[in-house]
Formats: sequence, C-alpha cells, structure tokens
Amino acid sequence: MMSKLQPHASIFLLILETMFVPVTAQTNLALHGTASQETTYTDSDGNSYSANLAIEGPANNNWDDGCSSTAAGQSTQWWGMSFQKLVYITNITFYLRSDTAERMNGFRLYFANVSVYLGNPELCFVDQGEQAFQNLIHSVDCDLSPTKNVYFYNRNTFVELCYIEINGCWKGTWGPNCTTDCPVECIGNHCFPQNGSCIWGCDLQKCFHGQCDAKTDVCMTGCVPGRGGRYCTFYTNPPVGIHKVYCSNTTDSWADGIVLYNAEYHNNDTTVFAICKYIMYIPPILKGNSNIDICEIEIGGCPYGKYGDTCQLTCPENCMGTCNLVTGKCLLGCSTGWLGEKCDRACDVGRFGNQCLRDCSANCLSSSCNHMTGNCMTGCKKGWEGFNCTEGSVLISRFCGLHYIASYLKLLFYFVIFRFPSGKIKA
Ligand SMILES: *[C@@H]1O[C@H](CO)[C@@H](O)[C@H](O)[C@H]1NC(C)=O
Ligand SMILES: *[C@@H]1O[C@H](CO)[C@@H](O)[C@H](O)[C@H]1NC(C)=O
Ligand SMILES: *[C@@H]1O[C@H](CO)[C@@H](O)[C@H](O)[C@H]1NC(C)=O
Ligand SMILES: *[C@@H]1O[C@H](CO)[C@@H](O)[C@H](O)[C@H]1NC(C)=O
Ligand SMILES: *[C@@H]1O[C@H](CO)[C@@H](O)[C@H](O)[C@H]1NC(C)=O
Ligand SMILES: *[C@@H]1O[C@H](CO)[C@@H](O)[C@H](O)[C@H]1NC(C)=O
Ligand SMILES: *[C@@H]1O[C@H](CO)[C@@H](O)[C@H](O)[C@H]1NC(C)=O
Repeated sequence: MMSKLQPHASIFLLILETMFVPVTAQTNLALHGTASQETTYTDSDGNSYSANLAIEGPANNNWDDGCSSTAAGQSTQWWGMSFQKLVYITNITFYLRSDTAERMNGFRLYFANVSVYLGNPELCFVDQGEQAFQNLIHSVDCDLSPTKNVYFYNRNTFVELCYIEINGCWKGTWGPNCTTDCPVECIGNHCFPQNGSCIWGCDLQKCFHGQCDAKTDVCMTGCVPGRGGRYCTFYTNPPVGIHKVYCSNTTDSWADGIVLYNAEYHNNDTTVFAICKYIMYIPPILKGNSNIDICEIEIGGCPYGKYGDTCQLTCPENCMGTCNLVTGKCLLGCSTGWLGEKCDRACDVGRFGNQCLRDCSANCLSSSCNHMTGNCMTGCKKGWEGFNCTEGSVLISRFCGLHYIASYLKLLFYFVIFRFPSGKIKA
C-alpha cells in the first residue's frame, strides 16, 4: 500500500502483511451484466417493458420512468442478470413499481450459476408473508457463494422492477472499484469484496501444520519457516541474493538508468537522489531463475520542481532544475546571474553571468551591468557603444573610414603620378 509521500527521495523495500481496510460501496455490477426476463410485456401502444429498463434508472418506483415487466398470464416468471465471470455480491438494492407493488409479493431472489430452473440455486431473499408491497425499496445483504447469475423469481404474477443495483466485485478482486486483487494467500483467490479478507481462509501451506482459522485467516500455531505475521504473509527470510532497483527515463533498458539499490535485502530505508520517470526492481537471480515476490515498495519523492512535506511547494524560480525535497535548496546550481543556496541572490555589483564568474565590461558607464546578461544598464563610457559597450562608437568608426579613404587616395595618387611623366601607360 502506498503511504504518504516521504519528504525525501527514498526507496523503501519492505515486505509486509497485507492490510485490510473496510470499505462499503463496491461496483454496481448490474451495469456490467446482461439483463433478461422470461417474457416481456408489451402494452397496447407497442411499448415494450424490457429487462434493461430495470438497470437504466432512474432509481425510483415510477412506472412512467421505465420499469421492466414480464408478460401477463404466466405460471412462473423471472427477471435475470448474468455475468461473464463469477461475482461476489454484497448487496442488492431494488425499487418496485409503486402502483402495483403487491404483484411482487412472495418473490424470491436467487443466485445460480445456471438457469434458475436447474441445479440448486442459492436463496438470497424470500418475501415472507407477502410483504413486498409495503417495502418499495429493498436493500438486501447477501454474502453467499460467488455466482454467475441473479434471478428474481415469482409464480402466477408479474416480475416488475423499476431499478436495481447489484453491488459487489468480480471474484478475485475487491475494494471500492474492485480494482485491488485478492491477496495471493487466499485459497482459490476468494476474498470479501468489502475488505479483501480471505473467504475460504488462508493457504494452509503457509501456516505451520496447516492450522488456519478460516474466519480470521490467522495461522493458529504460527507460520511455516520463512514466513511471519498473523496471516503468515510476512517474509522473515526474504529471497537471498542481490536486489537491484534502477531509476530510468525509459523502459527499453533499465541498465540505462541510475542504480538506486544493488545489495542484499535489508529492512531499512535507502535514501537516494535521482530524477527519472520509471523505477524498476530486479529480483535476485538464483540458479538461473528469478521470482518477483514483492509485497511493498514505497517510493518517496516529489514531482519535478516541487518540494515540501506534501510536495506543495515549488522550487525557487532560479534553480536550475529541481531542488532538495526537504529544504528547497537548489541541487543543480542556479540559472545565469544568480547565486546562493536558493538562487535568490543576484550577482554582486560588477559581476554577471553563469555563477557570476564574469566581470561587467570595463566600458560600462557605471561599474554595474545586468547580472544575467551583462548589459550595461546605465550606458557606455565615451567612445563605446553596444549591448555591453564593447563596440567602438561612431567617432572611431568615422576615423577608421577616413583612414581607409586616405589609403585609397594615396594609391590613386601614386597611380596618377606614375602615369603622367611618360605620357602613356606602362605595361
Ligand atoms: C446494503 O444493504 C443495507 C441494508 O441491508 C443498507 O443499509 C446498505 O446501505 C446497503 N449498501 C449498499 C452499498 O447499497
Ligand atoms: C458457482 O460456481 C462456483 C465455482 O464453481 C462455486 O464456487 C459457487 O458456489 C457456484 N455458485 C452458485 C450460486 O451455485
Ligand atoms: C473509484 O472510481 C471513482 C470514479 O472513477 C474514482 O473517483 C475513485 O477515486 C475511485 N476510488 C478508488 C479507491 O480507486
Ligand atoms: C471482512 O468482511 C467480511 C464480510 O463483511 C467479514 O465477515 C469479515 O470478518 C471481514 N474481515 C475482517 C478481517 O474484518
Ligand atoms: C531523466 O530526465 C531528466 C530531465 O531531462 C534528467 O534530469 C534526469 O537526469 C534523467 N534521468 C535519468 C536516470 O537519465
Ligand atoms: C541497513 O541495515 C543493514 C543491516 O541491518 C545495515 O548494515 C546497513 O548499514 C543499513 N543501511 C542504512 C542505509 O541504514
Ligand atoms: C559582450 O557581448 C558579446 C556578445 O553578446 C560577448 O561575446 C562578450 O563576451 C561580451 N563581453 C563582455 C565583457 O560582457
């Protein structure tokens, strides 16, 4: 289970007991099954009261809002829901039709893997003493066997349902959204959808002498060697060999990443610093085989650029990259023009650039310049111009220009002198 974020990047390799957390609502399985009924009533306008109307809602007792109904004049009737996989049902809530609720008097609610007419369906609920009409909204708890089908069954009348919710989980899963797998210790992968506790008990092979309390899953006389904890899910001797954890930005090859852990298992935190997208755990390879047998890996850390107990703080804005997850100190240096642990101090007057290593141009009017760019903020000394006053000013350019013109004139002068005495051009 993921606990709260550790405020420092630590990898915590720990093999723990599975924790049981009670939860109430499971998935409404009715939305994942197929509804059908023995017959379907169609009114004189041609409206058909199909089995699906019971799962579509709204959740009320109002015939006009859509209720399922079987046809009249049948000796037995059923409304059924079938699932593709076995489900564990914890609770069924259903709404009867308010104006004719007495038609449901005496109904039975069955779980069956096959048709309601075959085998021995399990009875979840029977309306004793024809009381259905007094109780328009039923909520029935049924901790029975896992099943593939649910049936509302009645004789000599209609089966009419305005809304039904079937709460539970697919066998092998539990939790509010049935997204957690049952603990591997559970015999046959059977666990309660509410809390993940093993229904058929724990795997006797893990308990010493196979003695396990089927209700609580507690191993009565301890665990087989190598296991510990009340449920013997704790490894006292984790697999020997070298465990490796890599931190990488790709999943192509973990070896490209940074090695975070490379040692025998030990039950303590490993503090590391790394930036990456993926954490990969490589179990020991023994005699050519490797088994992944992890119960818990905790990875503490923060999203890139965040720090603090709950990663609620943003790293100082002038940090290069990210910062210490506890203190917020910049770890990878400061951006250009900044100094200090939190990169909140501009370069001293007269300095600028990366780590403030450069002197402002000597041609700046004042000795200061922009601490990031080196721009002479107050202008240049006479004779200089440009961003950082390193270009000669117009005066100098003109001088250079004159100089070139002078040389040209000189050449021309030579040429002219050369030409005139002889009166013709020499070869
Ligand atoms: C299950 O049924 C009980 C009554 O038997 C009811 O109090 C409870 O709210 C129901 N739970 C759900 C999830 O519908
Ligand atoms: C359905 O089949 C499963 C597995 O064979 C069995 O455990 C369960 O008891 C059956 N359920 C019913 C309602 O008969
Ligand atoms: C269950 O699913 C709902 C809706 O998708 C979601 O909001 C909720 O966080 C989930 N709960 C858990 C524990 O996964
Ligand atoms: C889990 O839930 C089931 C059904 O409600 C209950 O019988 C069982 O005792 C619970 N297990 C634990 C460990 O609380
Ligand atoms: C992953 O990418 C980030 C951002 O580019 C980089 O800082 C980090 O060093 C990379 N991590 C690894 C393990 O290559
Ligand atoms: C972790 O525990 C092992 C043995 O218990 C010990 O040798 C090692 O120094 C510990 N490592 C750290 C990082 O505390
Ligand atoms: C002045 O700016 C130029 C171009 O931006 C740069 O190459 C040069 O190093 C800078 N010199 C100083 C002293 O700032």
